[in-house]
Amino acid sequence: MEKPIAIIGAMDEEVEELSQGLTPVPQFESQFLDMPVFQGSLGNRDVVVVRCGIGKVNAAIATQYVIDRFRPAYIINSGIAGGISPNVRIADLVLGTHSAQHDFDVRKFGYARGVIPRLAESTFKADSHLLQLALMAAQKEIQADRLHQGLIVSGDQFISSREQKQEIRDFFPQALCAEMEGAAIAQVAAANRIPHLIVRAISDLADGSAPEDFERYLSEIIPVLNAVIQGLLSLIKD
Ligand code: ADE
Repeated sequence: MEKPIAIIGAMDEEVEELSQGLTPVPQFESQFLDMPVFQGSLGNRDVVVVRCGIGKVNAAIATQYVIDRFRPAYIINSGIAGGISPNVRIADLVLGTHSAQHDFDVRKFGYARGVIPRLAESTFKADSHLLQLALMAAQKEIQADRLHQGLIVSGDQFISSREQKQEIRDFFPQALCAEMEGAAIAQVAAANRIPHLIVRAISDLADGSAPEDFERYLSEIIPVLNAVIQGLLSLIKD
């Protein structure tokens, strides 16, 4: 039997359309807290869509659960993010080539910010095959100058001030955007040796206007994000 592809999103808005597009329309409820899991097929591909909740711990719980229960071939994290790089604008799309946890801070013991002590690797690399396919799918949906690939950073913070944003830029000058789950999903995927990819649409610029922009642009950018995810699924042949 074909292994499914797991798609993990933090909020209802990020997974609703994908989970509603599943055929037949089965819903599989996990026994966990508040973490709905939907199982079915999307464009001929077996998928498991999970709404994990916000933040790294929720994301990690959901990822390990999905791995243990469904043994997915790939894990895709889909959602929105705040732009950190000056080159990134609202409604742009970011494909994570790698990810790190920007709030991991053991500098007192001489580790660089984001380094997880005693773990072989604190930067989690996306699967290059998935990345390549996502790039092809994204090119059909969005102009080239609105499509980026690079570092995505995650932390248990909604970044919404100049100071917070600058701090991330100081420690992670290459970061394109910040969100709250991706690198946790990536860490769990890596620990289980399952290839993963983070795909994020920019809802705000992680500044003082972020809370309003986030609300305002969410409904506009999710359909594009979902089109890219569906395009990516259709390109995965193995
Ligand atoms: N997700 C969307 N916007 C974000 C922000 N500004 N900070 C963290 N996560 C986000």
